Formats: sequence, C-alpha cells, structure tokens
Amino acid sequence: MCAKKIAVLTSGGDAPGMNAAVRAVVRTAIDEGFEVYGVMRGYNGLLKNDFVPMNIRSVSDTIHKGGTSLYTARSPEFNSPEGVAKAAKNCMDNDIYGVVVIGGDGSFRGARDLSNAGVPCIAIPGTIDNDITSSDYTIGFDTAMNTVVDMVDRLRDTTESHDRCSVVEVMGRRCGDIALYTGIATGATAILVPEVPYDIEKDVIARIKSSSATGKKHFIVIVAEGVGGVEEISKRIEAETGIESRPSILGHVQRGGSPTLRDRLIASQMGYKAVKLLKEGKSNRVVVMQNSEIIDLDITEALNVKRKFDVDLFNASKVLSN
Ligand code: F6P
Repeated sequence: MCAKKIAVLTSGGDAPGMNAAVRAVVRTAIDEGFEVYGVMRGYNGLLKNDFVPMNIRSVSDTIHKGGTSLYTARSPEFNSPEGVAKAAKNCMDNDIYGVVVIGGDGSFRGARDLSNAGVPCIAIPGTIDNDITSSDYTIGFDTAMNTVVDMVDRLRDTTESHDRCSVVEVMGRRCGDIALYTGIATGATAILVPEVPYDIEKDVIARIKSSSATGKKHFIVIVAEGVGGVEEISKRIEAETGIESRPSILGHVQRGGSPTLRDRLIASQMGYKAVKLLKEGKSNRVVVMQNSEIIDLDITEALNVKRKFDVDLFNASKVLSN
C-alpha cells in the first residue's frame, strides 16, 4: 500500500522560524510514514499544483535560516469559494490527504475553508506580530523583537550623542505587542500602541518634559505601525520641547534574520504536534501555545477568541521609563 501524502505550506508575511516549523513537519511526517510535499508560495501553490517532494535532507541546513524556503504569498484568488474548491480538487487529484499551513489569521481562515472543502488542515501560527488571539505566542515574534532591540540600541547611541529624541516605528498593524515589549526593553519614554488611544500632549510631550526636568537629555519613543505618524509626532516633539527629533521606520528588516532559540524551539514543537494531529485523523485544528503548553483548538473557535492586550504591562511601562 502507498504511503499517505501530506503537504506543508507557508502563507502570509514570512516570519523567522517558519523554516524550523517546515523542517519539523517534514521530519515528523516521514517518521510517521507519510510521504511529504512542500507547496510553493502559499495557497497559490495549491492552485497551481506546485508540489515539491521532500525528504529528510530537503530540510537540512534550514533551522537557522530566516525567511521561508517554501516561499510565501498572499493569495487573493484562493480567497473565494471557487479558489478554495480548485485548491481542494488539486489536493485530491494529487492524493494529498492533509495540509499543514503555517501563517497568520488570514492563513487560518484558508485552512478552515480547505478543511470544510474536504482536505484536513492543521494550522500553525507564524507571524512576527504575535496577533493570533488564541495563542500566547506566534513563531517569529521573539526574533523580530530582538532585531528591534538591536536596532534601537544602535539608534540610542546616536540619539544620546546628539541629545536628541528618536521616534521609532515598529511593525504591528493591529497589535502593539512588538511596540510594548521592545519599548520596555529599550527604556522608551513613551510607547504608542493601536489598542490604547493616545493623547500626544499627555502621553508623549508631557512625559518627555517631565523626564527632561529630572535631567534626562535623550529620548526614545516607540510607535506601533498601526498608530503610525512618526514624522508628525517627531515634528511635534521638536516644536513643543525644543529637543531635536528624528523619525525612523524600521520596516521589513524586522521580518528577516536567523531565528532565535525560542523561535526555533517553538516552531519545532508546533510542527511536530501538527503532524501528530493529522496522523490521529484530526482536521480544522490550530496548534497554539497556552500557558507554556502546546495544545490544539478548533480553528473556527480559535478565530473567534477576542484579543487581550496586557494593560498591566502597558501601565508598568509608564512607571519604568520616565
Ligand atoms: O507579517 C506581519 C507584518 O509584518 C505586519 O507587521 C505588517 O503590517 C505587514 O506584515 C506588512 O506586510 P507586507 O509584507 O505586505 O508589507
């Protein structure tokens, strides 16, 4: 009897650690007796029958690499009932029993739709934003934050030398976790996140003035991408405090680089778990981390979990950096 075939794809924005997850999926699948295929460029690969056979050695020398060796894409064509039906038919025509999808919540919706169309899918959270509400952690978050801390430490050198203020935009469209965590770790005087409305006078200018009054001469302000406006904020700080200010947008550099130990480890655990779930005959599940444990949930339920922002940590940041 032929071995059952499964496939793995990465979708949405890439994240450091995706390769470690793919590696874990491939090696666990082979250990479980599956034949395993990589799908190139996310859901687009399912639409184009772009399946690449993988073996133990296909994923050698990838655990330490950023990006995704399977490439990634956002696929508008897949996001329609016709697209999902075509992808499901291609899987069935190629005898693909199930698919492991690594990506963000858009990718999860795709995995749910494909599961409903008859192809069992298991999703793994891979995005630097940490914005998957059902999981305490998403693959890539730690690496991205360490990159931000490194970049802001460099900015701090020049900011300090010139007695300036640096207003730094970090990634996170709807989620301020990167901003909050890195803001604390870099001693930012103000942190602006999409979850908490802000008042520039009270939350930025007044904080800089009060720190300045106690002798502080250089300042870091961290702004999440979802808040934006670093140029205006920087001009306003300069105009109202007299402190020379410079805006910096860190951008996509945050998405690259070798994954940290944490990202490699969690990606490996999640990839292993995803294949075990397919082996058990499960479908429409997402692998998440809750209270340091790797568990699985129904994708539809997981997508309905409401976001919790760590207000206590946000309040603590205001006390710690002044
Ligand atoms: O992957 C998440 C993310 O990096 C967000 O933080 C950011 O808003 C977005 O992706 C950028 O997407 P793109 O790759 O399309 O520029």
